[in-house]
Amino acid sequence: WVRMVTAQTPTNIAVIKYWGKRDETLILPINDSISVTLDPHHLCTTTTVAVSPSFDQDRMWLNGKEISLSGGRYQNCLREIRACASDVEDEEKGIKIAKKDWGSLHILIASYNNFPTAAGLASSAAGFACLVFALAKLMNLSEDHGKLSAIARQGSGSACRSLYGGFVKWNMGKNEDGTDSRAIQIVDEKHWDDLVIFIAVVSSRQKETSSTIGMHNSVETSMLLKYRAQEVVPKRILQMEEAIKNRDFPTLAHLTCADSNQFHAVCLDTYPPIFYMNDTSHRIISIVEKWNRTEGTPQVAYTFDAGPNAVLIARNRNAATLLLQRLLFYFPPGDGVDLNSFLIGDKSI
Ligand code: DP6
Repeated sequence: WVRMVTAQTPTNIAVIKYWGKRDETLILPINDSISVTLDPHHLCTTTTVAVSPSFDQDRMWLNGKEISLSGGRYQNCLREIRACASDVEDEEKGIKIAKKDWGSLHILIASYNNFPTAAGLASSAAGFACLVFALAKLMNLSEDHGKLSAIARQGSGSACRSLYGGFVKWNMGKNEDGTDSRAIQIVDEKHWDDLVIFIAVVSSRQKETSSTIGMHNSVETSMLLKYRAQEVVPKRILQMEEAIKNRDFPTLAHLTCADSNQFHAVCLDTYPPIFYMNDTSHRIISIVEKWNRTEGTPQVAYTFDAGPNAVLIARNRNAATLLLQRLLFYFPPGDGVDLNSFLIGDKSI
């Protein structure tokens, strides 16, 4: 027999960034972070997991290519999930797995991203969240999303936030074993569904410095990161939570842009310096800043992760349409910027 489960998980975009670990093995961050989870139909990972007594080793394929599962991150997630596995019984298919059997059964994993891997579009977030969720279903875990979030965190920090929709906060936690470092939902996806999220794909090339190495170097060398984690982010988290609950777009926009800019300032303050944004990214910032100033009140927020691609959050569909027109004017088709729109809700413009 073979037991198989398929799951689909969207990626998330941080509006208050996670950057820096206090424990690199358990993946414990130096500050809280907040993100918005995208519409599940757009930037997402689809993962199928299968178990059978005939499988003789754990194996995984990512976008059709076999990858090694020997890395600590995969091993940590698989070990933790197996430890929580329960009995499974499917009479129709003649499947009966006792809790104690999971340690000796092997698993095959096939995962697909519908967006460029490692181009700064948070593919690891959707990837590990989806893997953990699919395995939890396969092994009939009774644990809540909070526990699954703490397991996904050990695959990639930002993955812990993709277990929930809407706006999500990752509490950095205090415990040394990381048990309280997990995500919680601030509001669900229906709370603020007039927001429209765009991704302007400036480059789908693999980033030069991975987030993991980049944040390691920042923790080692950036004084600005220490100041950010201790003095700036704790206040911003409180303000951002308030803004989200009150659907206060000007505050959300101000904090999101300021936090993205500070994160990239930390990257410059790192030795060796890291440049994730390029000239096109900077032009997009100028266009949005100028438009927001002309309107008198922000219409759009921008944020950039570990890559040059812009994530643009428009206050509503009208602002999104005007933004798209502006971007098409400045970056006509064929100019190297691919404008894709991804929405939080189920609508498209
Ligand atoms: C800039 O979660 O990819 O996207 O924990 O080392 O796997 P690891 O890093 P990762 O870092 C994401 C950094 C970020 C900001 C964010 O998503 O909060």
